Amino acid sequence: MRLPLFAAAYLLLRTTAAVYADEAWNVDYHYALLGQPQQDTTFFHQPSSSSKASLVYTLSDKGVVGTVNPRDGAIVWRHALAQNVSQHSRGFLRAAEGQDVVVSGIENQVAAWSAADGRLAWDLKTDGPVEDVEVLELDDKLATAGTKDVLVLTGGDNSALQRIDGASGTKKWQYQIEGNDQAYQVSASSTEVFVILLHKTMLGYYKIRVVSLDSVDGHKTDEYTLSSDSELATQDTILSVGANSASPIIAWTDATHTTLKVNLIGSKSTASFNIDKHNDQAVEKVSIQAPYHTNSLAHFLVHYETADSHWADVFHINLSKNKIEKSYSLPKLSGKGAFSTSVSDANVYFTRISQDEITTVSSASHGVLGRWKVQDLGVAVGASERVTPVHAVSELSIKGDSISAIRTAVLLSTGDWVLLRNGNSVWTRPEALADIESATFAISSAVEELAQELETEAHSNPVAAYIHRVKRHIAELRLLPNTLITLPQRFMRGFLGTSSDGGMAKDTFGFHQIIACATRNGRLIALDAGSPDRVLWSRQAVSLKTGETWQPQLTSHADIISLEHDGVKEHLAFNATNGNLIMTESRTETTVSLPNVGYTFENGGLEAKRLDVENAGSIWHFSPNTNENIHSLVPRPINDPVASIGKVLGDRRVLYKYLNPNVALLATTNSAANIANIYILDTISGAILYSATHTGIDLSAPIASLVSENWFAYSLTASASSESPKGHQLIVGEMFESLSPNNRGLTGNFSTLETTGEPYTLTATYQIPEPISKLSVTQTKQGITSRHILAYLDASSAIIGIPYTVLDPRRPVGRDPTKDEQAEGLLRYAPIIEFDARWYLNHQREVLGLTNIITSPALVESTSLVFGYGMDVFGTRVGASGSFDVLGKDFNKFQMLATVVGLFAATVGVAPLVMRKGVDSRWKFT
Ligand SMILES: *[C@@H]1O[C@H](CO)[C@@H](O)[C@H](O)[C@H]1NC(C)=O
Ligand SMILES: *[C@@H]1O[C@H](CO)[C@@H](O)[C@H](O)[C@H]1NC(C)=O
Ligand SMILES: *[C@@H]1O[C@H](CO)[C@@H](O)[C@H](O)[C@H]1NC(C)=O
Ligand SMILES: *[C@@H]1O[C@H](CO)[C@@H](O)[C@H](O)[C@H]1NC(C)=O
Repeated sequence: MRLPLFAAAYLLLRTTAAVYADEAWNVDYHYALLGQPQQDTTFFHQPSSSSKASLVYTLSDKGVVGTVNPRDGAIVWRHALAQNVSQHSRGFLRAAEGQDVVVSGIENQVAAWSAADGRLAWDLKTDGPVEDVEVLELDDKLATAGTKDVLVLTGGDNSALQRIDGASGTKKWQYQIEGNDQAYQVSASSTEVFVILLHKTMLGYYKIRVVSLDSVDGHKTDEYTLSSDSELATQDTILSVGANSASPIIAWTDATHTTLKVNLIGSKSTASFNIDKHNDQAVEKVSIQAPYHTNSLAHFLVHYETADSHWADVFHINLSKNKIEKSYSLPKLSGKGAFSTSVSDANVYFTRISQDEITTVSSASHGVLGRWKVQDLGVAVGASERVTPVHAVSELSIKGDSISAIRTAVLLSTGDWVLLRNGNSVWTRPEALADIESATFAISSAVEELAQELETEAHSNPVAAYIHRVKRHIAELRLLPNTLITLPQRFMRGFLGTSSDGGMAKDTFGFHQIIACATRNGRLIALDAGSPDRVLWSRQAVSLKTGETWQPQLTSHADIISLEHDGVKEHLAFNATNGNLIMTESRTETTVSLPNVGYTFENGGLEAKRLDVENAGSIWHFSPNTNENIHSLVPRPINDPVASIGKVLGDRRVLYKYLNPNVALLATTNSAANIANIYILDTISGAILYSATHTGIDLSAPIASLVSENWFAYSLTASASSESPKGHQLIVGEMFESLSPNNRGLTGNFSTLETTGEPYTLTATYQIPEPISKLSVTQTKQGITSRHILAYLDASSAIIGIPYTVLDPRRPVGRDPTKDEQAEGLLRYAPIIEFDARWYLNHQREVLGLTNIITSPALVESTSLVFGYGMDVFGTRVGASGSFDVLGKDFNKFQMLATVVGLFAATVGVAPLVMRKGVDSRWKFT
C-alpha cells in the first residue's frame, strides 16, 4: 500500500529534477558551413605523421579554412580568414606530406595552422595580395631539419617572392620582382625556384616570363620569356603551372581551345597537342590534374569538356629526355564528369567521377583498377534534374594490385558537398546554404488547410462554427485507418517521452514551417524549421551562367513562395510543400515595393511612386543633405500585428501608441564628416516624423536598424565626440500619440494623408559592449507576447535576444521607479547594458557571418520562429514571455499517467482504512 505512494512521489521528484534540463540542441539548429570548397584547395591529408586516418581540408570561396571528418561530415575546426566573407576571394591552402601544419594564403595574410586542431602556428602579413603559396620540398642547406619552408608570392605594386621558415614564419630571403609584370605563380624543382610572371605586351596579349632563383640565397640565376608562339590572348587560357618536380610544366591553350601547349619549366621549347572536337562540338573547357607529391611519377591528366560530353588524355613527362608524350586516352562519355588524382608510394592514380559511375585507373596504363556504381547522391532534388559533379578529391585504399576501397568528396552542381564511399553516399553538406541571398518562411499545404478551417470557425457564429467543426471531424475520419496504423508507435513514443513534436502534416503548433532560401547559384532550397537536420527539397529556380549573379527577393503567402529577381525581371511562384513551379510571369518594374508604393534610389535620393498607376509621377522625393548618402531604408514589417493600441500604465490609465503602418527608418551618412542621420519617415506622405543627428560616428562599423509597432531601434558606433561618449550604442525610440495618459493627441481616425501632427517620441540611448551588425525582432501571431530584439554580434559570432523591457525608453532616469512604474515592469535607467548570458540564443556555438535574421509567428501565441543566414545557418524558437501555451519538452506523459495511476491505487488502497476510521470514530467510545 505504501509502494504506489512512494512511486508517485519518486516520479514527481524526477520530474522536478528535469525542469532545468537545457532545451538547447532540441529546439534550435545550426549548420556550421564552410562555403563552396575550391578544386585547388581541397584535399585529403593525414593531420600528423603518426595518424592513419585522414581528414578533408579545404579553403572555400568564402575564405573559410576548415577540416571535415570524412566519416560523418562534421567540422573538426574552421577559421574565417577573409575580411569579408560575402566577397568571393581567391585563396591558397597547402600541406606537405608528414608535416603537421597546413598553410593558407588569402588577401594579405599567410598563416600556418596545426592540422589536427587548427591552432595557429604562425602568421604573416604581406605587403601585397597573396598570389601563390607553395611548400618547398627541397632539403637544401638552408632548410631546417624536420620542417619544410614555405614560398610566398605576393603581387601588387611591390611584387616579391619570400622564403619563409616553416617552423617560425620568419623570412629567410626575399626576391623583389622588377618590372610591372604580373606575379602569377611559383614552382620549385629539386634545385631551383621558378617565378612565373605574365608580361603584358603593347598589343594587349600576354607572354609568359620565367625567372629562376637559387633556393639558398634567393638570387636570380636565369630569366627568359617563352617564344612568340606562346602568346596568350587572355590570362584565362593558362591552365596550370605545376608546383614542383612531379609536374614541372606550364600548360595553356589558345582562346578557342583547339591546341594544348605545354612547356617544361626550365626549358624554352613548347610542345603542342591538337584538341579534337566531339560530335562536332567544340571543347569549352580544358583543365589539368597533376600529382602534388614530389616523389611521384611525373604524369598528368588533361580533362576536356564540350557542352554535353567529357573525356581525358594522360601524358607522361620524360625528364631525362626533356620530352612530353601522350600515353593514353580515357573514353568520351556524355554529360559532365570530374577527375581526381591520388598518389600511393610513387604511383599515380586518376579517378573519374561521372554521373553514375566512379572508375579508377593507374597513370601508367588505361586498365580499370576499380569500378563503383553511384547509387544515391543523397541530395533532395526534383526527379527530372541531372545532378553533375563539379570537382572531386579521392582517397584510395590499395591492396596489392587492386583498389579495395575509395572515398571521394565531390562538389555537385547543386552546391552540395557529398562524400561517397565506394559509390554510396555517406554524408551531404549543403554548402549552397552559405550563400543565401534571400529567405522566407512559408507553411505547408496541410497546415495551410488546417489554419484556414480554424480561421473560418473563429469568424462565424457559434452554431455555424460548431457545424463546421463536426463536418471537419467527419472529413478527418477518412484518415482514421492510417492514424490507427501509426497509433501504437505514437503511443509508445509519447509514453516514453521520445516523440518529436509530430510531422509536418500534423503541425498543431506551427513549428514545422518551411523555410525557403534562394541561394547565389540560382537555387531554391527548403528546410523544415521543425526537423532541420535535412533539406526538404532543392530546385534550380533560374539557370545562371558562370560568374552571373542575381538579386532574388523571396516572399510567401501561405503555402506559395514567390520569387522575384531583377536578373531576368521574372516573378516565379513555387509550391512550398514540394518545390514545384506553379507560375512564371514577366515583370517590368524593379523596385523595393510596399503596398502600392514603390521606392527607387534616384539621383542620390529616395523617390516614391505609385505602383498601381502606370507611369505615375513621383509622390514625394527625399534628398539627403549635401555630401550625404543613403545608407539603408528599413520599413516596418508588412505583417506586424499589434495587440493593443495603448500601453496600460500602472494606474490603469492608457498611453496611446502612434501606430502607423507606413513608417520606415532611413539612415543617411556623411563619410567625410563622420555624421549619421536617422529619419523616421511616413512612406505614403513622405513626412519626417522624427529625426536625429549623430556626429563623430565611426562609419566603418555597421549601422543596424529596425522598426516595429510604434517603436524603432538602431545601433551605431561613436568614435568619441563632444556630444556622445566613445563606444557602441543602441538607441531605442518609442512614438506615442500624446505623452499625457488617456489623451489621443491625434484626433479621430488615423489617415496618413491628413497628417494631424507629429508623434511624440521618447528615446533612450544605451552603451553596449560590442557592435551589432543586424537587428531584427520576434513576431508572434497576435502580437500579445512581449518582444525580443534580436541582434547579431559579428565580433563574437553570436545572436542574442534582448527583452524589450530592458530597452524601454520610458525607464525613469535618475530616480527609482514609482510604485505604478514598478507595476508596469519599468526599471531605473542605466546607461550601460551588459549582455546577459541567458540572452545568447546560440549558447556556446559559434555562428559565423550572419547577414540577416528573419522571424515568423508560430500558430501558438507564445512562440516566434527565428532563422538567421549569411554564412552559417541558425534557427531557433523564442518564447519571449515563456512558453505559456506549450508543454515543455521535458513533460513526460508516462510519468504523468503513472502518477495518476499511483494516486488512484493509493486512494483505492486507503479508502477502506478511512472508512473504517470513520465508522470507528462514530461507534467507538473513548
Ligand atoms: C562585403 O562585400 C560585399 C560584396 O562586395 C559588400 O556588399 C559588403 O558591403 C562588404 N561588407 C563589408 C563589411 O565590407
Ligand atoms: C626516358 O627516355 C629514355 C630514352 O628513350 C628511356 O631510356 C627512359 O626509360 C625514359 N624514362 C621514362 C621514365 O620513361
Ligand atoms: C502543393 O503540393 C501539395 C502536395 O502535392 C498539394 O496538396 C497542394 O495542393 C499544392 N498546392 C498548390 C498551391 O498547388
Ligand atoms: C472614423 O471612422 C469611422 C468609420 O469609418 C466613422 O464612422 C467616424 O465618423 C470617423 N471618425 C472621425 C472622427 O472621423
